[in-house]
Amino acid sequence: MGKDVIVACDFKSAEDTFAFLDKFTGRKPFVKIGMELFYAEGPSIVREIKRRGHKIFLDLKLHDIPNTVKKAMSVLRNLDVDITNLHAAGTKRMMEAAIEGLTREDGTRPLLIAVTQLTSTDQEAMENDLLIKEPIDEVVMHYAKNAKDAGLDGVVCSPLEAEKVHTRCGKDFLTITPGVRFADGDVGDQKRVMTPAQAKEIGSDYIVVGRPITAAEDPVAAYERCVKDFID
Ligand code: C5P
Repeated sequence: MGKDVIVACDFKSAEDTFAFLDKFTGRKPFVKIGMELFYAEGPSIVREIKRRGHKIFLDLKLHDIPNTVKKAMSVLRNLDVDITNLHAAGTKRMMEAAIEGLTREDGTRPLLIAVTQLTSTDQEAMENDLLIKEPIDEVVMHYAKNAKDAGLDGVVCSPLEAEKVHTRCGKDFLTITPGVRFADGDVGDQKRVMTPAQAKEIGSDYIVVGRPITAAEDPVAAYERCVKDFID
């Protein structure tokens, strides 16, 4: 799989999701399904979006004891998604167990991506709540390296970290970057943002774009603009 634009379908129901996806009659976007939609609709939403011909990033961010994550992943592998993820904070052993669970009998598996530190966690929260005293950039890179050592395929990171992740973990280690905005668009609650063209420039492998597409007056045009700026 090469570079792609992943549309964050942060909708509350299948009905809203399909009303949105029905607009795309040409190129079918790579779709991110998060916790809200998955918990509301269950695995059937994944099967239906797949049936309609979309690639899927199932963003459920698993984090539990290795045995539980392994078993959960062995259920998710049957949904035939293209990418799924977990928290690197669950340790290398948990990540290795996740890969075991996710790998099908024929040896294939979806790509597995780690969340390092959530972008909602800042240095202060990390120090005071988690008692992690290292600089946050170092923690992110350390978790990325752990994910790589455990055999994962990449990390979710800010576009500003993508270059450093590639330097530390190799250029084949995937970077999936949210926090993408058009230069003339609304930033919303995202703090550190990049345009699709800048994300391409710094070597992001996938960009995750939500509201700049889902809340656009013309979502198909906004999606095509992302594709043009990021891929073409
Ligand atoms: O609407 P917006 O483009 O901000 O959506 C970004 C998507 O990426 C959302 O689904 C959000 O939960 C997700 N995300 C993020 N920052 C992270 C990890 C995931 O914005 N660090």
